[in-house]
Amino acid sequence: MNKSLRSPFFASRVRAAPDHATFVGALIGAVVLLAGCGDDAAPPADGGSTGSQTSGQTGSETGDETGTDGADETGSTSSRTFWGDVAPIYFDSCVTCHREGGIGPFALDNYADAVTWAAATQLAVTERTMPPWLAQSDGECGDFVDSRALSDEEVDTITEWVESEQAQGDPRDDLEVPQSGTLEGATDYVTPNFEPEIVGGPLAEFDEYRCFLIEPGLASGGFLTGYDIIPGNDAILHHVLGFILEPDETNDNGVTNLDRLAALDAESPDRAGWPCFEGAGEETEDESLPIAWAPGQGAVEFPHGTGVPVNEGDMVVVQVHYNLADPANIGSSDETQVRIRFEDEVENPTDMFLPDLFLETLFEDEPAVLPMGEASVEYTWEIPVAYLLGDSGLDSLTLYGVLPHMHEFGQRIRLDVVSSDAQTCAVNVPAWDFNWQLMYFYEEPITLSADQTLSVTCDYNTLNAEGPVTPGWGTQNEMCLMGMVLGG
Ligand code: HEC
Repeated sequence: MNKSLRSPFFASRVRAAPDHATFVGALIGAVVLLAGCGDDAAPPADGGSTGSQTSGQTGSETGDETGTDGADETGSTSSRTFWGDVAPIYFDSCVTCHREGGIGPFALDNYADAVTWAAATQLAVTERTMPPWLAQSDGECGDFVDSRALSDEEVDTITEWVESEQAQGDPRDDLEVPQSGTLEGATDYVTPNFEPEIVGGPLAEFDEYRCFLIEPGLASGGFLTGYDIIPGNDAILHHVLGFILEPDETNDNGVTNLDRLAALDAESPDRAGWPCFEGAGEETEDESLPIAWAPGQGAVEFPHGTGVPVNEGDMVVVQVHYNLADPANIGSSDETQVRIRFEDEVENPTDMFLPDLFLETLFEDEPAVLPMGEASVEYTWEIPVAYLLGDSGLDSLTLYGVLPHMHEFGQRIRLDVVSSDAQTCAVNVPAWDFNWQLMYFYEEPITLSADQTLSVTCDYNTLNAEGPVTPGWGTQNEMCLMGMVLGG
């Protein structure tokens, strides 16, 4: 994601430099890059059983009650049971990861484990750190396709059960983890058989981030319209991002992506791929980031007839995040299937725009800097929609999706669409987590008109910083990027 907006328009904040070829975007004169993650295809909740009480058992079911007929001492009248009320929610929203052999650190598909983890679970769902869907989803800040966020009712159901006697209810075996459809017409790739190692460092306490070139040169151009990731080893595959790179694009040192990837790959001849943290590898220039996947997401198809442009010869690099927090997994390996669908034409072509005007200050005389030792440091940047429209002749743009991105000091990020008389929240991530980067597509795409301005605010916690934090692509630097999938 290191390609960013460089435009003379923002002379005050951005070094005046001609933008890359990006301004040749298919239909907007604008540009872009990134995007991806489909949040698409997250399994639809079937309504679970929130609010329903199928069994009505009380605390006596837990087995550790004596013979009090279940009257509970807190005076609570909740008769929520695990199997009747809570398990349906867990199977829908948690068990893809939280089961034996899944990436989640414990199971939630049985009563005993659910009781053990009850308090932690209540906290996680109340603070909405789990399931990992970071965008605010109460309708106040965007309405997203296939949101994985729990509804308020579901959170209440879990809370009521945790706060009551945690009754078991009648055990059942009819609950299943939602299965996602398959992606028709995809090309199949596979990552090399790889044995990750704990690399250490601030972002990789138990992890390794590794990049692999899976497509050295597309035979033809078109649009990327969908993808699916089929983990080889569910227990260690945390996250996959996919980048499109033009082989001839050069970085600031004049080195082409082709040469840069070869050099990165050559640095560790005994292991496949190369380390990567930001983007497709240090000093690479990606064109877009149309793939962002987390476990349980299922096949992703870009909504609203959209797709991200690719050119003949483009390379595809995937960044795989392996997690080895469970020592039992050390020494195990993975070989993951990456399925990508390319189509010649789409109904609504889009471009991916990866603006980060915080990062752009690197090219100014005095780059932005975040003071260290602060619990909250905000940075805001703006882009007028008129600027994006340029001389395209269009009078509005359509925002189909967003991909917020910061590093480890980031704690909140939001996008607002500002008019002279109103400000609308387009996406808000109240508890940013670098480990769960997702792309969010709108149920109803947002129309951006020439008189509006896009305003992005990032908030950082620099209490643990070892010095002032500057913009940049490294683990100790920060970004304030709001990827956007834009169409005409
Ligand atoms: C996409 C996979 C995935 C899904 C879905 C998921 N989890 Fe997790 N969960 C994880 C992973 C991985 C961790 C370890 C910490 C991390 O990586 O964020 C975790 C950690 C947790 C923790 C430990 C505390 C914390 O917040 O880190 C709790 C509690 C938890 N999950 C509960 C849930 C519940 C309840 C659901 C469903 C409502 C759920 N999770 C859905 C993957 C998932």
